[in-house]
Amino acid sequence: MKQEKIIVKLGKDSYPVSIGMGLIGDIGAAVGNILQGSTVAIVTNDVVAPLYLEKVRSSLKQSGFRVVTVIIPDGEEQKSIETAKRICEELLKNNIDRTHSLLALGGGVIGDLTGFAASIYMRGIPFIQVPTTLLAQVDASIGGKTAVNLPAGKNLIGTFYQPKAVFIDVDVLDSLKEEVFTEGMSEIIKHGIIKDRNYFGFLEGNLKGILSKDKNLLVKMISVSCRIKADIVSKDEKESGLRAILNYGHTVAHAVESLSSYKSVLHGQAVSIGMSVAGRIAVLKGIFPEKELEKQNKLLQDAGLPVSQSRFAADDIIKALKSDKKVRDGKVRFVLPVRIGKVTIDDDIDDALISKAVNSVFI
Ligand SMILES: NC(=O)c1ccc[n+]([C@@H]2O[C@H](COP(=O)([O-])OP(=O)(O)OC[C@H]3O[C@@H](n4cnc5c(N)ncnc54)[C@H](O)[C@@H]3O)[C@@H](O)[C@H]2O)c1
Ligand SMILES: [Zn+2]
Repeated sequence: MKQEKIIVKLGKDSYPVSIGMGLIGDIGAAVGNILQGSTVAIVTNDVVAPLYLEKVRSSLKQSGFRVVTVIIPDGEEQKSIETAKRICEELLKNNIDRTHSLLALGGGVIGDLTGFAASIYMRGIPFIQVPTTLLAQVDASIGGKTAVNLPAGKNLIGTFYQPKAVFIDVDVLDSLKEEVFTEGMSEIIKHGIIKDRNYFGFLEGNLKGILSKDKNLLVKMISVSCRIKADIVSKDEKESGLRAILNYGHTVAHAVESLSSYKSVLHGQAVSIGMSVAGRIAVLKGIFPEKELEKQNKLLQDAGLPVSQSRFAADDIIKALKSDKKVRDGKVRFVLPVRIGKVTIDDDIDDALISKAVNSVFI
């Protein structure tokens, strides 16, 4: 069985990320060396539980763990302080103490929420990530950002709290809805553009196999993406500099998401449109060749992602960008590509140029 292992290097907080097929069936044995305590509390939701909870639970039990389960409803609205509190109360009821551990089994919502609960319950207990969406596997589960939302905005309350290990089983991707899988491809293509031209080429050359979920290709792809994210996080855990390049495409994505109230447009789709705008700004600035932008946009489109939009007015997007601007000392910050594989951070872009690029994408 093909399995890859990557280490997120953060001194004493370092942890392994394992990527392979059928991992969740052996999770009990795998965490045996990592977790000290007798009990694991699995946090999952009512979509993932019927699919994978039993497998994870019986494997842990076979390895001698007492297993507690906390099942919450599906949905981004569960990423709230109220649900975090409910999880903590449930843990208390089940006599979970600081020697025990949490296990997040689900997409980014479950990962962010469980990580947050783990970081505050009894001032912090160990937790393990078992991400089950493509986006959570290559992005949300790595790097230790945990969060819940406030009505005023996403991820406004949170902590930096690293898991003890991440287990990525590519087999669970089989049950993902098509558009949720596609959405994960957006962050994956982003990794190629910000850091690794060869990887971008690998994605171009193997797209068909990847989209048909060839397992060997998925293990390879997810490993490279995890390595890219892990390297960036290792160098800048708390996002004081370099880690910001992971926000490529996200400036406009956040504007799109706030206009759509985080509902009708999926995050990965918004990021794809955002990369298209950022790429256009870079071309207009003369720092990114038009041919490279075409290459970027072609791969995004071939993967099933949008690079233009007619649903929102360009003016509304610009307004949303500017309201973000107030938050950050009057400057809109963009990550701009220089070539595929290299980006730069720019917070001094002419308004007219931003407007021109936005107008060329929001048609
Ligand atoms: N912490 C970070 O660094 C970070 C990074 C990126 C995103 N995020 C957060 O991640 C969240 C988005 O994550 P997401 O896209 O995984 O969304 P999600 O967790 O809502 O999952 C998407 C949908 O797929 C379902 N699902 C999950 N696994 C499944 C499976 N194997 N088979 C069938 N259905 C499955 C979920 O129940 C849900 O309905 C956002 O809240 C975002 O803020 C965090
Ligand atoms: Zn993102």
